[in-house]
Amino acid sequence: MSNHKIQLDYEEYGSGLPVVFVHGFPLDRTIWSPLVPLLKDHARLILPDLRGFGKTAMPEDAEPYSMRTLADDLLALADRLGLEKVVLVGHSMGGYISLAFAHAYPQRLAGLGLLSTQAAADTPEKRQGRMKTADAVRRKGVARALEGMAEKLTTNPDLVEPIDALINRQNPAAVIAALKAMAERRDSTENLANISVPAVVITGTQDAIIPLERSQELNQLLVWSWLVEVPGGGHMSMMEYPEQVADALHRFFNTVESNR
Ligand code: MLT
Repeated sequence: MSNHKIQLDYEEYGSGLPVVFVHGFPLDRTIWSPLVPLLKDHARLILPDLRGFGKTAMPEDAEPYSMRTLADDLLALADRLGLEKVVLVGHSMGGYISLAFAHAYPQRLAGLGLLSTQAAADTPEKRQGRMKTADAVRRKGVARALEGMAEKLTTNPDLVEPIDALINRQNPAAVIAALKAMAERRDSTENLANISVPAVVITGTQDAIIPLERSQELNQLLVWSWLVEVPGGGHMSMMEYPEQVADALHRFFNTVESNR
């Protein structure tokens, strides 16, 4: 696996408890923008773009990489910022990466927020589908290969266009590499019982990408967690219902603070 060192581009707001927000696929840090005004007075919000996405460069000679590589990129960012421990809030693929981080670096984790994500690995059919999509991205580009994806991501018709634009501006090489990394990711279910920090699990009840049951399972298997269901929310509840999500995260930050 690639251990090519890269520096994640990031934005930062506020002060206090350091919280790293990890975006999902095939998106970038701008998904978190609606939460920033609601949370910046309650914590130090650190918003990176994952390798190849948003404003972070894709290493030219990158080998295939894994969720662990992406977790290592987050660790390098924490080191660069001099942070001994961070709270991670991961959305979807960002949740897979956060779970890989929790497994590899438990001593660097202060709390775990899991939004619209799961611990399960891909089924063989899903894996095959991702490989086909990766091939389509290579042949046709992101916009054509991922046409129609934005509609599936959100329950809010007004968000389809902006999310579509956000998807279309991502680098094809990063999209392909992330698809392969997700296809090959390991099942994290057994590791959940080893996560001893506070965790909040948040999901839209109408998430068409990762069903509500996956979040209920996470909540059952994590040792110290609670579940927040956002009624009517799709896969993008941080954009659809920012007040509800911010409120859940604010309460979670308070729990993490009182555990430090
Ligand atoms: C994401 O939102 O990160 C992806 O849709 C997750 C996935 O495809 O498994």
